[in-house]
Amino acid sequence: MRGMESPPGAETVLDGRRYLYFAGTGYFGLHGHPAVVRAGIRAFYRYGTHSATSRAGFGSNPALLEVEARLREFFREDDAAYFGSGYLGSLVLAQALADRYDAVFVDELAHFCIRDTASSPGKPVFRFRHRDPDDLAKKLKRQLTAGQRPLLLTDGVFPVFGRIAPVQDYAGVIAAYGGLIGLDDSHAVGVLGAHGRGTLEHFGMKAPNLHFTGTLSKAFGGHGGFVVGKRKLIGGIRTSVGAYIGSTPTPTPIAAATAKGIQILLRHPEMRDRLRRNTVRLKKGLRSLGIEADDSPVPIVAWSMGTEKEMRGIQKDLMRRGIAVAYLKYVGAPAAGVLRLTVFSTHTAAQIRRLLEELAVVL
Ligand SMILES: Cc1ncc(COP(=O)(O)O)c(C=O)c1O
Repeated sequence: MRGMESPPGAETVLDGRRYLYFAGTGYFGLHGHPAVVRAGIRAFYRYGTHSATSRAGFGSNPALLEVEARLREFFREDDAAYFGSGYLGSLVLAQALADRYDAVFVDELAHFCIRDTASSPGKPVFRFRHRDPDDLAKKLKRQLTAGQRPLLLTDGVFPVFGRIAPVQDYAGVIAAYGGLIGLDDSHAVGVLGAHGRGTLEHFGMKAPNLHFTGTLSKAFGGHGGFVVGKRKLIGGIRTSVGAYIGSTPTPTPIAAATAKGIQILLRHPEMRDRLRRNTVRLKKGLRSLGIEADDSPVPIVAWSMGTEKEMRGIQKDLMRRGIAVAYLKYVGAPAAGVLRLTVFSTHTAAQIRRLLEELAVVL
């Protein structure tokens, strides 16, 4: 296995062969965008690999600062903190908010990074049933004593099936406790909401107790994680969260490329329109093949059918026909795994039609 030998895109080279590619998370095809690559190369010549010191010292540089400036612009927030990976996002958020809650409540199918994070601030952690506000209400009632405040941690969009967390219902449930919500919005930022600001924008929600973190490695075509918000919150991250101050920041060429990716998505909202249209096209087509697909604007569809062997067989048949889709065992997937498709803004209608035709043959 040589793996991926081109940038991920509507067409991607895997093990020496070019495929129509409906996998991964490169929702806007920015990872190989010429302007993104150029920005990275220029920064490489100018700054080398990275600062070789953390941001507690001389570790800031123009590329990192530009990412944070672009994030402020994109999300229309006071400030932004950019750090090593999206995986660290919930950790950074939970630590930054630590003096505002007494216990953590986590969706039982939350991403690995939330599970790894939940106990880090040293408060009790409780699980509630997947996407179930009633179960959350029960657990809050059972576990909290008078005056205690909860932090709810969940994915905004769950990576396997692309389902959106019922954040409006959660907000109603935690309101009585003065609680906080922290979303890992890695699959929603850049994609959901009128301006791509994620799950909260999708639901039209904004309040001081609602927070999110995201990755720049998916929709934005770059790399690294971030939190945006009020100056006080971000200032706290800069002064006291170890993952931000105690780690060598993102390699400078990658930071420069990431800043360009954010800028492109900011300046070209039509890319999001194209993604929406392609999502509708794909989901409608899949439904006509008998595959369950909701009508949300999340560009992910996954389903389980038969055994692992059968699903791997379908994946192989598609690969033989020049189409790459994922077979995944991942947090949130049933034991046998799932077949999972993602669609990008850069897929043409003809490419989506071809996927549907080939699926109709192999299923
Ligand atoms: C929900 C979720 N959170 C966090 C991450 C990790 O982000 P990153 O790859 O930037 O570390 C992923 C996957 O990559 C994810 O699916």
